[in-house]
Amino acid sequence: MQINGFSKLSKKEKINWLLKTYFQQQPEAEKILTQYWHRDEELQKLHDGFIENTLSNFYLPYGIAPNFKINNRLYAIPMVIEESSVVAAAAKAAKFWLDRGGFTTEILGLTKTGHIHFLYNGHTQELIQFFRENRSKLLSAIAPLEENMKKRGGGVKDIDLIDKTDQIEHYYQIEFKFETADAMGANFINSVLEEAAEKLEKLAQSQLTGQLTILMSILSNFTPDCRVKAMVKCPVEALETTAMPGKLYAVKFITAIKVAEKEPYRAVTHNKGIMNGVDAVVLATGNDFRAVEANAHAYAAISGSYTSLSHAKIEDNHFYFWLEMPLAVGTIGGIAGLHPLVKFSLQLLQNPSAKELMQIIAAAGLAQNFAAVNSLITDGIQKGHMKMHLNNLLNFIKADEKERQVAYAYFQNNKVSFAALKKLLNRQ
Ligand code: MEV
Repeated sequence: MQINGFSKLSKKEKINWLLKTYFQQQPEAEKILTQYWHRDEELQKLHDGFIENTLSNFYLPYGIAPNFKINNRLYAIPMVIEESSVVAAAAKAAKFWLDRGGFTTEILGLTKTGHIHFLYNGHTQELIQFFRENRSKLLSAIAPLEENMKKRGGGVKDIDLIDKTDQIEHYYQIEFKFETADAMGANFINSVLEEAAEKLEKLAQSQLTGQLTILMSILSNFTPDCRVKAMVKCPVEALETTAMPGKLYAVKFITAIKVAEKEPYRAVTHNKGIMNGVDAVVLATGNDFRAVEANAHAYAAISGSYTSLSHAKIEDNHFYFWLEMPLAVGTIGGIAGLHPLVKFSLQLLQNPSAKELMQIIAAAGLAQNFAAVNSLITDGIQKGHMKMHLNNLLNFIKADEKERQVAYAYFQNNKVSFAALKKLLNRQ
């Protein structure tokens, strides 16, 4: 059913309309929404204000993976994720590498990009000359917006005119390069671009013979020059387990990585495993996971075919495993100063700069990838998943402690299924 003016209704009125329209006034439906309201009204108001038409809160588990040694500093990393086994896998990988020197990380660049996309129907040469003469005027126009960012070490680093007319008739860009210090920078970048676009339009009207039309002004979420690397390394022998000698393990591991480098079907799943770790920390620290995802996958396809974000090799009898990915995150701005759990996460991470947070996130991604590939080339991933699955099933049927022990023992050697569990415990 269509409704006009929904946003103007109170929260209660919105819920009433939904109940009437889609839930035949079921009281249980209302209870599902209201039981997640926070008892502290002020806190609830804060959450209501993050988006529009808020009706309730949507819980996701908030877990911790301790023992991450990154550049010789120990971290307990907060992770927000709905998928079982991810936090356990991160913690296990962190502990494994803690005993082998930990993670080393480095920043490979901090430059972000944004564009004024526009059309010009006159001569390219005239436009080039116009840009040269007005470059400093464009920069002066955005100077007031840049003032604070400059104090924090960021700002506009460069601007350039780019001719794209070979792709779309009359299409050009003014490309801006930015650094945004500890902010993710989307608001700053978009404000600067829109201000500059206004100035560009005005200057063009009085100086150009052709028609200049602004199409749009927007940051790019693709940040190949704002990039981070995380690495682990150890002597090949240090990979020895009861199941396999170190050399065999290393060769098998590296071959699995090569498959992800060469085979897009595998690369997508492989990178999804990396993003299990990355997104969980991105969410816990209040960052934009959609931007981080889009960026990572664009970078994985930068060569023209989709490939693995992580790589591995043996050199001088040492095993090296590393991840390189673009990452644009912030530790100030957005909901960083507002959401109590985001503030908690940042404090837990010892109030990192954006650069430090990039490195922590990359280490979490690499740990997750290590854990996944390790499982895949040894026991397979179902073993770990099945334990969590069994727990979920036991919780679902509200099993008591005795039933749990019976189930754990039985499913050590049998495939977990709901039917098998019900049969074992004589449940309907
Ligand atoms: C599951 O969420 C992630 C994995 O599929 C990743 C991988 O296959 O590398 C286990």
